Amino acid sequence: RMSLLRSASQHLRRRRDYSSASASPERKVAILGAAGGIGQPLALLMKLNPLVSSLSLYDIAATPGVAADVSHINTRALVKGFVGDDQLGEALEGADLVIIPAGVPRKPGMTRDDLFKINAGIVKGLCTAIARHCPNALVNMISNPVNSTVPIAAEVFKKAGTYDEKKLFGVTTLDVVRAKTFYAGKANVPVTGVNVPVVGGHAGITILPLFSQATPASNALSHEDLLALTKRTQDGGTEVVEAKAGKGSATLSMAYAGAVFGDACLKGLNGVPDIVECSFVQSTVTELPFFASKVRLGKSGVEEVMGLGELSALEKEGLESLKGELLSSIEKGVKFAQES
Ligand code: NAD
Ligand code: LMR
Repeated sequence: RMSLLRSASQHLRRRRDYSSASASPERKVAILGAAGGIGQPLALLMKLNPLVSSLSLYDIAATPGVAADVSHINTRALVKGFVGDDQLGEALEGADLVIIPAGVPRKPGMTRDDLFKINAGIVKGLCTAIARHCPNALVNMISNPVNSTVPIAAEVFKKAGTYDEKKLFGVTTLDVVRAKTFYAGKANVPVTGVNVPVVGGHAGITILPLFSQATPASNALSHEDLLALTKRTQDGGTEVVEAKAGKGSATLSMAYAGAVFGDACLKGLNGVPDIVECSFVQSTVTELPFFASKVRLGKSGVEEVMGLGELSALEKEGLESLKGELLSSIEKGVKFAQES
């Protein structure tokens, strides 16, 4: 009985240590593209995160206003705004985590790959500065097309001699957020306890939700239900792009997803055990050099890229049919970074 009590109180103490702001180390987070549709609500959510001690908001315009506004919130993080190329170095100096939502969003009728022309160059420039000013930071890439921007970042870091595959992440959390929401709705279970891994990449059919591994399991779903859930998850971004009708793509749900993933990265850095999220990372899980799957996060970033587990026949088929498109998006990014 005594030992039970003791272990319960140790457990509570451990939990308190991890969650109390005063016990958590200093952590600087930089957001690049902080004045944008994602950047602003993401800045707000990171300002509310007690693990953040310093929040650096960078954009090519309008960050002084965003920073002044967010800085008045009475939470731990000290907020500073940086604007323009001249201030990018200072924005990045000492960062533990850099989150990148910089770049143009889709309009109806566009694919994510249509953004490559503009966003590839933006990401390349920002990653060149990261290699120079905070080469050890974790990088969370939100800018699309993620299937290409992550390989671009890897190549830029390789060229600079700073590449650490454990520190580069394509943010696919929004796919998981959507899969959880849609699954809970169809299976009629409370969404708060739902988990669904989503693997592959972050565009169309490269987004592969694994509903066969969803928890809590549901036997109420027909084959047609699973097909519809898969399609809705794959087309979730387009659903928002069309609803916004020319005013951009997902920003609020993306800011939420980015904040969830950023928080997981910080917890990993701080040594909190058992932090697992899906992310698009360098991988040997399939023959593709980058692939999204469950990843265990730790003190130096990726601690373990986890396998896919058992797949249903539908998912096996989805996996095979996504490989061609995903590989060509990866190769397009690598080629751009090597040649430009
Ligand atoms: P937005 O146009 O509202 O904001 C983008 C911001 O980036 C702007 O403030 C702009 O000034 C800034 N910017 C442009 N060039 C920059 C540079 N060189 N340095 C710093 N900042 C720069 O767009 P948004 O809706 O916030 O979307 C941003 C990106 O995120 C898009 O590429 C979009 O496709 C992508 N996105 C990804 C996901 C995902 O799941 N990974 C989800 C939603 C959106
Ligand atoms: C999303 O999934 O919402 C983003 O990738 C934005 C988009 O273009 O769909």
